[in-house]
Amino acid sequence: MSSSDSVQEKCLQTYNYLFRPDLLRGKVAFITGGGTGIGFTIAEILMRHQCDTVILSRRLEKLTESAKTLKKNTGRECIPIKMDVRKPQEILAAVDEALATFGKIDFVINNAAGNFLCPASALSFNAFRTVMEIDAQGTFNISKAVYDKCLKKHGGVIVNISATLHYRGSPLQVHAGSAKAAVDAMTKHLAVEWGEDGVRVISVSPGPIADTEGMKRLGGKRAEATGYQRNIPLQRMGRREEIGNTVLFAVSDAASLLTGTVIVADGGAWLSTGGSYASYKQMMGSKL
Ligand code: HXC
Ligand code: NAP
Repeated sequence: MSSSDSVQEKCLQTYNYLFRPDLLRGKVAFITGGGTGIGFTIAEILMRHQCDTVILSRRLEKLTESAKTLKKNTGRECIPIKMDVRKPQEILAAVDEALATFGKIDFVINNAAGNFLCPASALSFNAFRTVMEIDAQGTFNISKAVYDKCLKKHGGVIVNISATLHYRGSPLQVHAGSAKAAVDAMTKHLAVEWGEDGVRVISVSPGPIADTEGMKRLGGKRAEATGYQRNIPLQRMGRREEIGNTVLFAVSDAASLLTGTVIVADGGAWLSTGGSYASYKQMMGSKL
């Protein structure tokens, strides 16, 4: 499935509190893909602010190991639940289990995604559909299930982890870019319809983030070797912690007037990177 199978997730060695440590006391977050990468660090940072979490994905073993690490390092509760965002019956059962454990869900973090580099000409019909189903349909499935069973009664915040691929038609990414464009549209549509229930919906769009499966799949090491970071206005890739802090802000009352909004957290990367199709083909060489 993924090379993160063999990597044991670690919590941050040090964390500098920018917000009050009890900012999310009594809150519960439902985080898809929370067992690895950016999702793991989002879970950690919310838990460091006294939030309890449910982390969900397809690999129970990985989730269980990550939940143990998160609990040990933060002292909060974290329950792992096996679930595929493409399977409504599994989602409904997972939401019921989360509600049976915690009694409510305040925040939904739609972070699960699938991606790989592939030119449109080589992409199979099923490959395009698979990424659309995980990223876009999956975001709708989870949002609707939690809204119906919980958020419509007491409000909450939905954060959709998106990307900037579709802003400039990033090469080799028609599948993920189209899916994230749909996610950003969903952020606006759901914000408009569910605002009256006290539900805020926000997209957080990372740029290239170091030490992630996503960057590995998008040629991270090869991109670094070409000096890619020098083209990013802030001259570096992002850190997982920075996406965690952005999500923390988005769910907190500091963002109480934000809904239907896309927060880009990329050091300005999309403004000045992206690359031509020719340069990507050259960089990837026989790997394509
Ligand atoms: C071309 C590929 C492919 C590849 C799979 N496929 N990998 N096509 N290049 N590298 C095709 C398969 O051949 C198949 O089509 C179809 O996709 C479905 O593949 P499956 O393996 O059956 O799908 P599934 O088991 O559901 O796995 C989904 C997956 C997988 C997306 C393909 O890679 C996965 O589970 N990924 C999760 C982890 C991940 O991707 N993390 C990165 C997220 S980062 P055929 O026609 O043969 O049946 C991210 C970054 C965004 O999203 C922006 C960054 C800047
Ligand atoms: P990652 O570690 O591979 O995270 C993806 C997670 O999604 C995994 O935990 C995976 O777990 C889960 N997942 C995939 N398919 C699923 C499905 N069908 N059902 C349930 N869970 C599923 O990758 P990442 O790099 O941290 O990416 C996290 C998010 O950030 C994604 O939304 C991605 O698009 C976004 N993003 C990342 C970057 C970057 O530079 N890394 C840049 C922009 C946006 P299982 O395999 O156990 O299911």
